[in-house]
Amino acid sequence: MPTPRRHAAAAAAATLLALAALPLSAQAPAAGKLKVGLMLPYSGTYAALGTAIENGFRLYVAEQGGKVGGREIEYFRVDDESDPAKATDNVNKLIKRDAVDVLVGTVHSGVVAAMAKAAKESGTTLIVPNAGASVVTGPMCGPNIFRSSFSNWQPAYAMGEVAAKKGHKRAVTITHKYAAGDESVGGFKEGFEKGGGKVVKELNLPFPQVEFQALLTEIASLKPDAVYTFFAGAAAVKFVKDYAAAGLKKSIPLYGPGFLTDGTLEAQGADAEGLLTTLHYADGLNTPRDNAFRLAYVKAYKLQPDVYAVQGYDAAQMLGIGLAATKGDIGKKAEFSAALRKAKIDSPRGAFTLSASHNPVQDIYLRQVSNKENKLVSVASKALADPGKGCSMK
Ligand code: BEZ
Repeated sequence: MPTPRRHAAAAAAATLLALAALPLSAQAPAAGKLKVGLMLPYSGTYAALGTAIENGFRLYVAEQGGKVGGREIEYFRVDDESDPAKATDNVNKLIKRDAVDVLVGTVHSGVVAAMAKAAKESGTTLIVPNAGASVVTGPMCGPNIFRSSFSNWQPAYAMGEVAAKKGHKRAVTITHKYAAGDESVGGFKEGFEKGGGKVVKELNLPFPQVEFQALLTEIASLKPDAVYTFFAGAAAVKFVKDYAAAGLKKSIPLYGPGFLTDGTLEAQGADAEGLLTTLHYADGLNTPRDNAFRLAYVKAYKLQPDVYAVQGYDAAQMLGIGLAATKGDIGKKAEFSAALRKAKIDSPRGAFTLSASHNPVQDIYLRQVSNKENKLVSVASKALADPGKGCSMK
C-alpha cells in the first residue's frame, strides 16, 4: 500500500510528465520580471547614440504596456564608454553581478566583440542594436546572438556602388582606425572598385581622436575625385565642420555611410547641406509605420528620432517576437531563435528579415541632407544581405 506521502510524490511526478508532454503553447507563461542589461555608451563620442538606442527600446516596451512576451521589464544599465579595454569587465557586471536574462548592446565595434564572446560562453541572449562588426554575424555568430542594426559592410558597399555610378575614378578614404572604420572602408572599396573606381589612399587616426587638420591637408594635396569617410556621433560633427572649413566641401564630394549625418544635423548646420550618404533609414520615408513611430518618439522624448532610435526600437521588437513564441521564457533558446529566423520584423525603416547569420537583410537608402534632414533620394540597394563570412551556426 503506498503511503499518503508517496502518493502525493507520484502525483506530482505525473503532473510534471504530463506538462512536459503538452505543446509549448499550452504551458504556463514564464513569470516574474525579465532582466534586460543595456550595455551602451552614455559618455564620450557615442553618448548620444547610446541614449537614442535606449529611448527607442523603451518606447517599444511602453507601447506594449510595459511588458514584452507577457513579462515586465527590469532594466540594468552599464556605460561602456566605447572603451574596448573595459568591455569584458563591463559585460560581466551584467551577466555575473546582475544575472540579466538578455543583453542589449552596444554601439562600438571594438566593444561588441567582447560582448559576443561573453554571450557565447554564458549562453545569454544578445541583441546588438548598432555595432556593425563583421565578427558578430561572422566567426562569432551563434544561435543566441542577433543584430537589429546593420553590418559595417552593408551601407559602405552600397555607397561604393553609388560613387562608381557617379563616374568617380579616384577616391581617398578617411576613418577612425578600428574594426568599424576598417570594415566600412573595405565595403566601400569593394563596391567602388567593382564599378571601375580605385581607392588611391586610406587615411586614418586612432579612435576617438578628432585632430583632422593634417589629414585634410593631405587630402587637398592628393586631389581625389571623391572622399569616403566613416565617422559617427561627436566625431562626425567635427569632421563635417572641419571638412567644410578646410575649403574641401566646394571642391571634393564627400560621401559616407549615413552615420556621418544621422543625429548630427543640428550641430553640423549648413556644413552638412547637400551631403549624400547611404543607410538603412532615412527621413521622409512617409510610410504609415514610420510616421507612427516618429510621432510617438517625438511625443515621448521631444526629439526627432534617428537611425539609432530605430535600431533600439527594433531590438525590443525582436525580443518581443522571441518571447511571444516562448511564452516569455528566454531559456527556450531553440524556439526563441526559430521565431526570429522566420520573422518579418515590422521596422520603421521598412520590414526586414534576418539572414542565416542573424543580420538584417534590408534596403539601403541613398539620402541627401536638405534643411537639416536626411531626405530619401532612392533605394541604393534592395534587400542587401551581408555575406556573413565565417559564420557557422552551432
Ligand atoms: C561601430 O563601431 O560599429 C559603429 C559606431 C557608430 C556608428 C556606426 C557603427
